[in-house]
Amino acid sequence: MKCTAKAPANIAFLKYWGKSDDLLRLPANSSFSMNLSEAFTLTTVECSDSLNRDVIEFEGETVSEKETHRVIGFLGAIRSRSGIRSFSHVRTKNSFPKGTGIASSASGFAALTLAATSAMGLALSEKELSILARLGSGSACRSIPDGFVMWEKGTTSETSFAHSIAQPTFWDLRDILCIVDSCMKKISTTDGHAGVKTSPLWEERMTHLAQVESAMLHAFTEKNFSLFGQIVEDECMNMHAVMQSQSPPLYYWNETTTMLMDKIHGWRTEGIEVYYTIDAGANVHVLCESKNLSQVMHLLQGLSGILKMVINAPSKGAHVVNEHLF
Ligand code: DP6
Repeated sequence: MKCTAKAPANIAFLKYWGKSDDLLRLPANSSFSMNLSEAFTLTTVECSDSLNRDVIEFEGETVSEKETHRVIGFLGAIRSRSGIRSFSHVRTKNSFPKGTGIASSASGFAALTLAATSAMGLALSEKELSILARLGSGSACRSIPDGFVMWEKGTTSETSFAHSIAQPTFWDLRDILCIVDSCMKKISTTDGHAGVKTSPLWEERMTHLAQVESAMLHAFTEKNFSLFGQIVEDECMNMHAVMQSQSPPLYYWNETTTMLMDKIHGWRTEGIEVYYTIDAGANVHVLCESKNLSQVMHLLQGLSGILKMVINAPSKGAHVVNEHLF
C-alpha cells in the first residue's frame, strides 16, 4: 500500500533542550509550539514485496549516511510493530529549499511516522502517532497535532506526547522566518541535548521553567501579545544561555542574527509589537500579530543580510494527502 503524509515544522515558544532519557527521547521539561504553515515535509511510503531493502530518497537534498541510517532504523521499528515483512520505498521532500539551515527533523519524522504507519496498515490514534514520532526526533511529536501544541514531558514513553491546546484559528499570529544562514549546523541537536548538564545554568533553568510555562500559557490564553512575546523572547535567551555555556559551547548565531535581535529591540522602543525566537541555528523567527504584518515586513525588507523570508501562519498538524511523490 502507498501513503503520502504532509507534516509542518514547528517553532517552540517554550523550548525542549535536554532529555531525561536519551534513548526514549523523554524531554527534561514540557514544551509548547506552533505549527508552521509554509515550512513542511511531504513523504510518500510504499511497501513492496519486490524490494530487498528499504530505499530512501530525499528530493533535492544531500543527506548524510548517519541521517539515512536514523531514518532506516526508525522505519524498521515501525515495520516490526506492524508485523509486515516487506521493505519500503520512501521519498521525501521539504517545502523549504535545501541548505537554508531550517531544521527538518520535526516535520520529517512526523510525516514519515504518519505515512509509514498508514502504508503498513497501522491505524494509530493521534496520541500513539505523537509518541512514535517522538522516538524519531523529540520535536517531531509536536508536529502531529493541530495548531498550538503542548508536549507534556511525561515520565514514561506512554505518557510523553503532544496534544493541541488551541486550533490554528485561535490566534492570528505570524512567524516570519528570516533565513540568514545557508549552512547546516555543525553539531546536531541530538548531540547538543546530551551536553546540557555541563552548563552551570542548567539546574537554574529547570527550576525556573515551571513558572515560565504557567506565565506563557496565561498570556497565550488571554491573547496578550506584548506579554506573550516578551516571555517567549526571554525563554529563547535562557535556552541559548544554556547552549552557550555548555561544554563544548554551542553558539549558533551569526552577525545577521544579532543585528536582527538588536533591530527588534529597537523597533519595540518605538512602540512596534514585534518579538523573536531562535532555535538551534542562526535563523530568526520574527513574531507579530497579523494586523502588524505589513508594518513588520516593511521594516525587515529594509535590512540587508537576510537571504529569504517565509511568512508562516499557525497550521494544522500531520495529515494524509492524496497526491503521491512517485
Ligand atoms: C532547539 O527535536 O531536534 O529546536 O530529539 O535529539 O531529535 P532530538 O532533538 P530535536 O531538538 C529540538 C531543539 C530545539 C528546541 C525545540 O524545538 O523545542
